[in-house]
Amino acid sequence: MMRLGVLASGGGSNLQAILDACARGTMPARVAVLIGNVPGAGALEKAARAGVPCVVLPHQSAPSREAYDQLVVAELRKHRVELVCFAGFMRLISPVLLGAFQNKILNIHPALLPAFPGLHAVRQAIAAGVRVAGCTVHLVDEGTDSGPIVLQAVVPVLDGDSEDSLAARVLVQEHLLYPRAIGLFAEGRVRLEGRHVRIDTANDAARSLVSPGVA
Ligand code: GRF
Repeated sequence: MMRLGVLASGGGSNLQAILDACARGTMPARVAVLIGNVPGAGALEKAARAGVPCVVLPHQSAPSREAYDQLVVAELRKHRVELVCFAGFMRLISPVLLGAFQNKILNIHPALLPAFPGLHAVRQAIAAGVRVAGCTVHLVDEGTDSGPIVLQAVVPVLDGDSEDSLAARVLVQEHLLYPRAIGLFAEGRVRLEGRHVRIDTANDAARSLVSPGVA
């Protein structure tokens, strides 16, 4: 069982999708700890309901970004976390956290990176007039949503879509994509070659997970 540390700031719907996938036994992983930076956030309640240890570390817990990340790393180590999953974690991180979990931090972003990194990705996509939007699970590096891409899912943009309607359609795909990506790590099927994430698709079932529709 790979021990996951999930970091979240918001409602926690992606956290819930991860918890559900772990509970269904579809991946050999469990959430060992949920770390939140916003007291009262929905993610904390969802983790508590699932019996997952919760740690709240508000922004003000430390005098600097580095000192904050040291607290985060200490909690992750205490809970023997092997893979860190950002799930709507709205904080920039420092080399302290990156270095402690090198190439072991995942993020989900509601756009087809490298298009529309940063805040308000769905709003950016609508404003740009793109015909397809989507979501990306990527490894976290020192940049903003700039790390190696693990998996992506495409969502059509429909005439008349608002930021909310498109974001809702993207979120449905996020909930499928993130557990799938985490499962690949938990099964030891992911390898990094420079900027390229290589996924072991030795059997057909695995191949269709990575590229749905490809036999
Ligand atoms: C998601 O859209 C995710 O892509 C982004 O933040 C949002 C988090 O939503 N990084 P939730 O808290 O998982 O519901």
